[in-house]
Amino acid sequence: MTQTTRTATGPRTYLMCPPEYFAVEYVINPWMHPDEPVDAGLAMDQWQRLHDVYTGLGHTVHTIPALPGLPDMVFAANGATVIGGSVLGARFRYAEREPEAAAYLSWLRQHGYGRSGGEVRESTVINEGEGDLVFAGRAVLAGYGFRTDEAIAPVLADLFGLPVISLRLVDPRFYHLDTALTVLSEDVAAYYPAAFDDASRAALAGHFAELIEAKDEDAEVLGLNAISDGQHVVLPKQATGLTAQLAAAGFMPVGVDMSELLKAGGGPKCCTLELRY
Ligand code: ARG
Repeated sequence: MTQTTRTATGPRTYLMCPPEYFAVEYVINPWMHPDEPVDAGLAMDQWQRLHDVYTGLGHTVHTIPALPGLPDMVFAANGATVIGGSVLGARFRYAEREPEAAAYLSWLRQHGYGRSGGEVRESTVINEGEGDLVFAGRAVLAGYGFRTDEAIAPVLADLFGLPVISLRLVDPRFYHLDTALTVLSEDVAAYYPAAFDDASRAALAGHFAELIEAKDEDAEVLGLNAISDGQHVVLPKQATGLTAQLAAAGFMPVGVDMSELLKAGGGPKCCTLELRY
């Protein structure tokens, strides 16, 4: 069998927030256990390593200052959704995280969003940014069932001018779409079938030309919480089976250890907000 060659589609621009005030202080997903110790120094080292992996791959990384009292702010993916220069502000499901939305919006406005071309729109509909709203080139995938409201679909279609594929999440361990699916390139995704209902699995099969199915043990270490530039796929290194599947499919997996962030239910993708223009 000839190996498919995958190509990186341009250097990417990411926004990250250092885990300066990171802790597990409340429970809003099944991964969080406030009684289990978190090594704050190790969390910072792991985050820095992820940052350096991105810059090493030629991507640009901006950082937003962490705010005290917002222990989950390190999960930048939830802060907003940025596609084609337009921004949809987040609106969090739980009060504990709600102030993060304004912090991310104000950073984006300060960095030029809304001043030329694109629109910056605040949302009345609950949506947890790129955690649930995943850009797939020709469409936006919108996960719902735990955090983001299904009613976000028309808002996305209107703001970004793209078709929206709504996907119902059914397993509380995979409460954000980016814990159950990763878009590898416009036509290829990896996902954990058991995290979706039948209709959503069918919708994914209809949209993607190629779908890689993650095994239980890889999904359970949040192996699908990965970031692809079309060629390199940065993913939790504990997801050894998925790493092998990606390599066999012609991608270049880059493993990172996010053990401390996993204690809050997050991985590398959660720590990363892609700024598309
Ligand atoms: N503790 C955070 C929460 O439950 C983790 C967020 C992970 N982010 C993500 N994009 N999946 O909200």
